[in-house]
Amino acid sequence: MTTVENGSGTRMLAGKRALVTGGTRGIGAAIVRQFLDAGAQVLTTARSTTSAPPEGVGFVAADVRTRAGAEAVAAAAQEVLGGVDILVHNVGGARPHRSALAIPDEEWQDGVDLNFLSSVRVDALLAPGMRERGSGAIVHVSTAAVAPPAPPFLHYQRRRPRWRATAGGSPPSWPRPGSGSTP
Ligand SMILES: NC(=O)c1ccc[n+]([C@@H]2O[C@H](COP(=O)([O-])OP(=O)(O)OC[C@H]3O[C@@H](n4cnc5c(N)ncnc54)[C@H](OP(=O)(O)O)[C@@H]3O)[C@@H](O)[C@H]2O)c1
Repeated sequence: MTTVENGSGTRMLAGKRALVTGGTRGIGAAIVRQFLDAGAQVLTTARSTTSAPPEGVGFVAADVRTRAGAEAVAAAAQEVLGGVDILVHNVGGARPHRSALAIPDEEWQDGVDLNFLSSVRVDALLAPGMRERGSGAIVHVSTAAVAPPAPPFLHYQRRRPRWRATAGGSPPSWPRPGSGSTP
């Protein structure tokens, strides 16, 4: 595994081990590149390798909607990185529907698996290591589409409030939830 210095010469994340889900394209790929430039060791995951991650980035093929996928990702993180200091849950998304009542049952299930349970499972496997070491950061990429409610995306918009509730119930020794914005 190699690391690359960024243009400003700062290596703020040197020595840090980062796992970014869905890092082969889009926002996840941009996060991977930034982490790499800042000196972190990076592992990413996607279902396919059609868009290859940058050189020097570890990759594990897995579907994080499933328990088996989450376990494969966590096992690879232990094997490749030896643990995780920064965990970015970037995988997520949804297809729009005509109205809230037109969202089919399987789409609700997929939304929960993709946008919520994927993170719950990987956290359950990797957050204890952070707790033992007394440090770590977990970032959930969400969406500003959570407000105001838009029926075509109701199954997607449920994700942030649920996350806030989950993070609020975490042990007192864990970092408190914060937030940033995406479009
Ligand atoms: N794009 C936007 O305008 C926008 C706006 C607001 C919020 N967001 C949020 O930002 C995040 C990234 O969005 P994006 O548009 O950059 O995503 P994207 O272009 O669709 O990329 C998604 C990445 O996740 C991987 N992925 C998808 N499903 C997966 C699965 N089940 N298991 C493992 N990997 C999977 C994809 O690779 P494979 O397909 O090969 O698995 C790819 O690497 C999402 O959480 C999204 O909700 C995006």
